[in-house]
Amino acid sequence: MNVLGIETSCDETAAAVVDDGRVVRSSVVSSQIDLHARYGGVVPEIAGRAHVELLVPAITEALAAAALDRPDAVAATCGPGLIGSLLVGLSAAKALSMSWDVPFVGVNHLEGHLFAPVIEEPSLAWPLVVLLVSGGHTLLVLANGPGRYRLLGQTLDDAAGEAFDKVARFLGLGYPGGPAVDRVATGGDPAAYPLPRALMDGSYDFSFSGLKTAVVRTVERHPHAATADVAASFQAAVVDVLVAKAAKAVRQLGAAGLCLGGGVAANSLLRARAPEAVEVPTYLPSMAMCTDNAAMVAAAGSWRLEHDGPSPLSLGPDPNLFLPLTT
Ligand code: KG4
Ligand code: ZN
Repeated sequence: MNVLGIETSCDETAAAVVDDGRVVRSSVVSSQIDLHARYGGVVPEIAGRAHVELLVPAITEALAAAALDRPDAVAATCGPGLIGSLLVGLSAAKALSMSWDVPFVGVNHLEGHLFAPVIEEPSLAWPLVVLLVSGGHTLLVLANGPGRYRLLGQTLDDAAGEAFDKVARFLGLGYPGGPAVDRVATGGDPAAYPLPRALMDGSYDFSFSGLKTAVVRTVERHPHAATADVAASFQAAVVDVLVAKAAKAVRQLGAAGLCLGGGVAANSLLRARAPEAVEVPTYLPSMAMCTDNAAMVAAAGSWRLEHDGPSPLSLGPDPNLFLPLTT
């Protein structure tokens, strides 16, 4: 079964065709980075308008690359995300499902990220501890299988990606911040400045706003500090906490594997450190599958369609949708 996936929750306009729930036949991502860069972050109104312009070409390209006139179903992200952006993808998906007379299914963006390893790892072992770290979310989840999620912890303030973006802006590294900090940190000393690690022992929750403030204080105290050293010290502090909590969860819960997901999973230090911290296999999605894409939406949509059936056409966008929890 070929499912057309549509992703427009934030600033990537994406369309993809996935066959049989995991075989990616095409995946198109039109980034809006250039449109938002001059504002230092995503401008919701601009994102919504850009999705309107970019979505139909992305869908056309995804269908053509998959040599398909019409998919067997259409899946689109219905939340969480920016309301105006979500509306564009959802409306397109519903209109296409009506005109093609194929089922429509709404997809939770967070669940979409959890399907990246399902696509890329044929021998995935469950239960998995999943560290889902993006611009909007920082979640530690125990996944007992597709659709069976238990929340272990989440951020109490900023998301990990948001901390990267804010620190990058403060250091004048531009947007998007995560890749910029990652790049600059390569040439810096991670031990140059002692920054706090909010480990909050006994808890799987995270907190990053204190770290961001500590970076500001450090630069105020050391106005001539090398940006590379500050970036490297900040990145090391974030990664230390992420890896410590994920590894502890794997140990305490006896998970069979650790999986990273979301845009921050593209971070080079996190990708290097996570596998060293656990004795079970670590699944690192490819770079393209870490950041927002529609293949993960099509894969999650295929599974939801099979297990829950189609969504009603009355389904609306939900900017605050949370991961569906079972256990
Ligand atoms: O999953 P994603 O593409 O979009 C959301 O759903 O939020 O994640 C985007 C986030 C941004 O905050 C971006 O700065 C961060 O992921 N990011 C990174 C890296 N690449 C992207 N953070 C740290 N290091 C990276 N290499
Ligand atoms: Zn995302």
